[in-house]
Amino acid sequence: MLSDLLPLTETQREIRDLARTFAREHVAPHAAQWDREGYFEPALVKQLGDAGFLGMLLPEEYDGLALDTVTYLIALEEIAAADASVAVMMSVHNSLPTQMLLRWGTEAQKDRWLRPMARGEILGAFALSEPDAGSDAASLRCQATRDGDGWVLTGTKSWVTSGSHAGVILVMARTDTAADRQGSRGIGAFVITPDLPGFHVGKKENKLGLRASPTVQLVFDEMRVPAGHLLGEPGQGLAYALQSLEHGRLGIGAQALGIARAALQAARDYADERRQFGRPIRDFEAIQFKLADMAMRVTASRALLHATAAAKDRGERVTQFAAMSKLMASETAMFVADEAVQIFGGYGYVKEYPVERYLRDAKVTEIYEGTSEIQRVVIARELYT
Ligand code: CAA
Repeated sequence: MLSDLLPLTETQREIRDLARTFAREHVAPHAAQWDREGYFEPALVKQLGDAGFLGMLLPEEYDGLALDTVTYLIALEEIAAADASVAVMMSVHNSLPTQMLLRWGTEAQKDRWLRPMARGEILGAFALSEPDAGSDAASLRCQATRDGDGWVLTGTKSWVTSGSHAGVILVMARTDTAADRQGSRGIGAFVITPDLPGFHVGKKENKLGLRASPTVQLVFDEMRVPAGHLLGEPGQGLAYALQSLEHGRLGIGAQALGIARAALQAARDYADERRQFGRPIRDFEAIQFKLADMAMRVTASRALLHATAAAKDRGERVTQFAAMSKLMASETAMFVADEAVQIFGGYGYVKEYPVERYLRDAKVTEIYEGTSEIQRVVIARELYT
């Protein structure tokens, strides 16, 4: 089988085994049914929290595991190999809202939200995109208007992963006024809870893949937000979001890698069992070449992802490498899942086997948390800085 290129520490091996066991017991047996029914299992949030998987990067004082980024990504890959829908919930929660609160939250904000988030009592979400503001995040229109000490938010957010089940949502909204537009510098980040008056969950998207992960619109109808819910500086919200997305993109890289690895394993096993022309199809060079390319891309994607995460943990600037990691892992996921379906032939095209799900799940990794085109923009921009 495919072994690890980069050596794992003892802790990393332990966490990988813990995640693998959790995935085998609590996730894998249900993945096909949850996908078929578009079902999100709320009890799984608490189970993930109890096992430590929702506070992986948080310090112990907030009930987190205080792990490094590489170890977190290793666990995420294991969950993703069982079910990419569960993995995206785990990735968004660990990489975006918890990290934003930890980095820019006041002591009061951290005290209030981080512990229940780490324990899986509250699920986190992230709301940046809008119906007319996707890749061009700075053009968002959701408006935050001052109201005494607090704020009133009006607008619609789209593509919010876990938005219908989240207890905390980090929402980016304009804090400048129409007469005073400051582009990317006129946006604030707010900690929103679903009990705020004027908060509504809008339509749930009917998606190609990740069908067990609810993706919803959120509608804010003159939603009153107390002053203590603004995160950091009123004009810095987009910068906070884009900085956090760097972490998020590593998480999506690990998710994509998990899908790719699962597809490779399935294709490898099938090529061994399936016989045509009197022998296992793995004897044919046409199949061997596919498996070799799949294995090479999985290994290269993991090496780049883990090297980037290690550099991030050393405190280095990894904007370009994070974009490369997400781009490479997501294109690997699509390539490997597509080849896996091809190796399975007709059986790859039906729901009896998981490879068609891998292909459907892989596609979105090239789209969300920055499309492949945006990753290339970031990589090219960095060449000139
Ligand atoms: N680190 C630190 N700061 C950063 C940063 C980073 N990696 N990226 C941007 N910033 C800062 C910039 O320095 C800038 O601050 P100043 O104004 O003080 O200089 C500010 O953030 C705005 O950045 P840009 O000027 O670079 O912004 P831009 O308008 O030129 O956009 C972009 C650049 C790369 C196209 C960016 O908009 C982008 O990444 N777009 C894609 C958005 C995206 O990924 N959306 C996904 C949403 S989440 C999701 O998918 C749903 C889900 O739940 C999974």
